[in-house]
Amino acid sequence: MSQQWSADTYAENAAYVPAFGADVLALLDPKPGEDILDLGCGDGVLSEKIAAAGARVIGVDASADMVAAARRRGVDARVADGHALDFSHAFDAVFSNAALHWMRDPDRVLVGVHRALRRGGRFVGEMGGQGNVAAVRAAITAALAEEGIDAAALDPWYFPSAEEYRCKLEAAGFVVDTIVLFARPTPLPTGIEGWLDTFAGPFLNAVPVAQALRLRARIAVLASSTLNAAGDTWQADYVRLRFRARSQ
Ligand code: BEZ
Repeated sequence: MSQQWSADTYAENAAYVPAFGADVLALLDPKPGEDILDLGCGDGVLSEKIAAAGARVIGVDASADMVAAARRRGVDARVADGHALDFSHAFDAVFSNAALHWMRDPDRVLVGVHRALRRGGRFVGEMGGQGNVAAVRAAITAALAEEGIDAAALDPWYFPSAEEYRCKLEAAGFVVDTIVLFARPTPLPTGIEGWLDTFAGPFLNAVPVAQALRLRARIAVLASSTLNAAGDTWQADYVRLRFRARSQ
């Protein structure tokens, strides 16, 4: 089963995601009058900030619930699959925060982003990079293996290295100005279980509810020595890949 998004659950468990978006927004540097596509806009918190800079923003997201939340903020948001963007030379920039790692076919995504941009337009984004949530993933894999489930077959995430993503950007027709991979340990306000409820649907929704609850508790036990060593503050081992590229 695929990831199901709830704007309310997201706001409760993961408000830090857009809050961490300030640096990538600064890298985008939106200007008044620009047309900007927010790819994977979620509930539109960052789309709203781009619009506040004077740009015209369209947000797209695969989740109807997130798109509805973005529209409630006044964002022109639409439901769309990032693998099948159908814009043609319509934007000065495409922006994406914490969404590209959910798109398992990056080459198709990049074809659509490149086509959406005007010549010389920029693609600015941040996503999970190589090693992202490695300890969480290891705990998920181990807990599911204990119950005979192969987590790799359910894994929805794509976390490339800087070298891999640079190659993909260049192959899609971009010149890369900057691309960096960096660790960003991230406190989890509602602990690992809140994080799993928000982000681990593809693993936990694949089994009956009682089993999912058991697995969720077991993942927390397995991850606690690494991610909750002090016993009172969960911290996820996030690794980000941030880039700015220009379309040729
Ligand atoms: C991330 O933002 O890096 C992320 C979020 C949910 C699942 C995996 C990674």
